[in-house]
Amino acid sequence: MTEARLPHRLKTLPPYPFAEIDRSRGEAIKKGVDVVDLGVGDPDLPPPPQVVERLREAAGHPENHRYPSYLGSASFREAAARYMGRRFGLEPDPGTEVLALIGSKEGIAHLALALLDPGDLVLVPDPAYPVYSISARFVGAEVATMPLQRERGFLPVLEEIPSELARRAKLMWLNYPNNPTGAVAPLGYWREVGAFAAEHDLLVASDAAYAEIYREGEPPASALQVGALAERTIELHSLSKTYNMTGWRVGFAVGAAWMVGALGTVKTNVDSGIFGAVQEAAIAALDGPTEVVVAQRETYRRRRELLVPALAAAGLDVVDTTATFYVLAAVPEGRTAADYTRELLDSFGVLCTPATAFGPGGEGYVRFSLTASDERVEEAARRLAERSARP
Ligand SMILES: Cc1ncc(COP(=O)(O)O)c(C=O)c1O
Repeated sequence: MTEARLPHRLKTLPPYPFAEIDRSRGEAIKKGVDVVDLGVGDPDLPPPPQVVERLREAAGHPENHRYPSYLGSASFREAAARYMGRRFGLEPDPGTEVLALIGSKEGIAHLALALLDPGDLVLVPDPAYPVYSISARFVGAEVATMPLQRERGFLPVLEEIPSELARRAKLMWLNYPNNPTGAVAPLGYWREVGAFAAEHDLLVASDAAYAEIYREGEPPASALQVGALAERTIELHSLSKTYNMTGWRVGFAVGAAWMVGALGTVKTNVDSGIFGAVQEAAIAALDGPTEVVVAQRETYRRRRELLVPALAAAGLDVVDTTATFYVLAAVPEGRTAADYTRELLDSFGVLCTPATAFGPGGEGYVRFSLTASDERVEEAARRLAERSARP
């Protein structure tokens, strides 16, 4: 057996961009560089203490050592439905319209198997989280990109989608609050999406992984708040960023029962659910006090304020965003995102992500993640500001 026997879909797969970033970080560390890692969006903050405590307790419950429910326990799905109610005023049926996910990435990837046939066309933003298009390609679907442009608030301009593509497309991916741009889609935009989707008989997949990471007082909307989207939309939520549980692998899908059901059918045949103790702990997170999430928004605001002036001093044009824990900045004229990323690492020991990791539409931008401690963010800011002040 040789690698030549690998299937086409793997042989033609570009390297997963974040694995590349891990590699550059590793190389720099090997050379003795004290790297301030603002590359990957993996929170440094701890999960709420009651969540960890619940996991400890629940790990001792004998029923949790057996196979969990494929679709998530009834109590987890009820907690997710309560969250959708509190936060968005929605009342999904936990029995048919909510499904537990092993992190939202798992749901994104499996959604392609649940909804797409080979040859189907999927509309994906550019730049975007890479899994939307890779999973579509895995099942032999075609991908067409919708550019996200700064002057259009990083929202795809629906009327600029060529009518031939709109007519052929089966599914549209959207992600707000957006990674990597930090943009938010107002409810009015979701209404436009609703009208567009109805007109072209499109399905909508909304990735809401950053739904709780926003500037205090400006909570982002859910696609499911738009009536026209209710029967054709599935939305993916995650506990990863909201409760600093990236390692726990837990999230949920919510939306049209037939779409949630289709994803559940795939999962039933592929995985065997989430460890019951993790689900119990996730309930403690979803039902827990909201103060921790509010305090966390304040932490990200503070870190943003530490970093932004230093980025500006270093000649970057920082995008004014209201959500996510990312700071997006345009690199100086004449530089590419990849060159600038390498230069920042070599000259300052600061690691960011070239937005081209999210597609060619990210060219000209780099993304900084505020998921390092205040001290490390301050250290990055100090290095950038000091060096830039030199004649
Ligand atoms: C836009 C977006 N969606 C989904 C995910 C996956 O999150 P998880 O699988 O941890 O829920 C990420 C992770 O970085 C992301 O940035």
